[in-house]
Amino acid sequence: MAETFRVGLLGHGTVGAAFETLLGQRADAIAAVTGLRPQVSGVLTRSRGAYEEILDGSDLIVELIGGIEPAREYVLGAMSRGKHVVTANKLLLAQHGEELWRSAREHGVQLRFEGAVAGVVPVIRVLQETLAAAHVERIHGIVNGTTNFILSEMARGGTSYAEALARAQQLGYAEADPTDDVTGRDAAAKMAILARLAFSTPVHLDQVTYEGIEEITADDMAFARDLGLGLKLIGTAERVDGGISVRVHPAFLYPGHPLASVNGPFNAVTLESDAITEITLSGPGAGGPQTASAVLGDVISAMIPPAMTPETTHSLPVVGDVKSAFYLAMEVDDEPGVLAQVAEVLGMQGASIKSVVQKGLGAHARLVMVLHPLLESRLYAAVQLISQMAFVRSRPRAIRVLDEEFE
Ligand code: HSE
Repeated sequence: MAETFRVGLLGHGTVGAAFETLLGQRADAIAAVTGLRPQVSGVLTRSRGAYEEILDGSDLIVELIGGIEPAREYVLGAMSRGKHVVTANKLLLAQHGEELWRSAREHGVQLRFEGAVAGVVPVIRVLQETLAAAHVERIHGIVNGTTNFILSEMARGGTSYAEALARAQQLGYAEADPTDDVTGRDAAAKMAILARLAFSTPVHLDQVTYEGIEEITADDMAFARDLGLGLKLIGTAERVDGGISVRVHPAFLYPGHPLASVNGPFNAVTLESDAITEITLSGPGAGGPQTASAVLGDVISAMIPPAMTPETTHSLPVVGDVKSAFYLAMEVDDEPGVLAQVAEVLGMQGASIKSVVQKGLGAHARLVMVLHPLLESRLYAAVQLISQMAFVRSRPRAIRVLDEEFE
């Protein structure tokens, strides 16, 4: 039996409740890897639990209350008693980070906060560990899921600002007071934390200039659409003239920009440094289960140093034949019935055609189609049959299409 690792949970809102559920689901797997079984040893909400009692009965405290007080007092109290702390509280870190980090250093405990910035996107770890040797020049980020969701919905047309905001609240993306999301304050707090880590200099929320999306109109969105531009709420932290600038504001992006295609509640952060050119990290930036996953990842990191050669806990089969969407191109005689025969062979193998284009090339034609996902073995069987048909001038070329949609 693995020894129990006691986790005191402060706060039981969207993320807190999701964290407790996830911990219950993952406890066995974590025990198998770390030798310690995490267990929620107490929960503090406005109506239940007592802080001192929870602290006494915990090895680590997870703070998901949000806001400044009493979260600050609880986090400092836990660290002064030698407990590691995991928090997703961006406003607290952006305003009292130096005091908290000093306390963590003084008491020799870990203060982890991956869930505070960009949800489950591992940008804190990357800045603190992977890029510890890089001289970061600039960070651009979409770091608020609510506003990115609202802008994405408005860009698709037919959804008003108010409707999109209400939906973001229902889906658990928005802050308890969504004013922090739409005014850019939540994004500003996250950019302050990223700037602090990237540039190793104190950055307070008050030093971040920010502008939200409240003034964005349907006309702005139509203009962006007409020009093929995306309109996003962008956070920037960069070195400027021997100092730094940290700011958040709406901005138009050209389609090729790594942040232009980040839609819905997804976040993304682009890190630039001469040594590494550029890295973009993206993923779900808001939502209970998503943020809870980042918080639990931090708990596991704080529990025990990861084993260098972890034991395998499963023996899973490796699947050889998987489903993929395909682009299929071939040259054929330009004659009646050719497309129908190709479609028939594909249909026999269970391939469904998503789109098809034909281009005339004199006596023959290039036939290009995109197929909905099907088992690769069935696609290859179809290609084999099509290759043998008399009207085919070139062996069909099949290239996989990644057609995942994340919205
Ligand atoms: N309200 C925040 C957002 C939650 O929309 O990004 C994640 O910090």
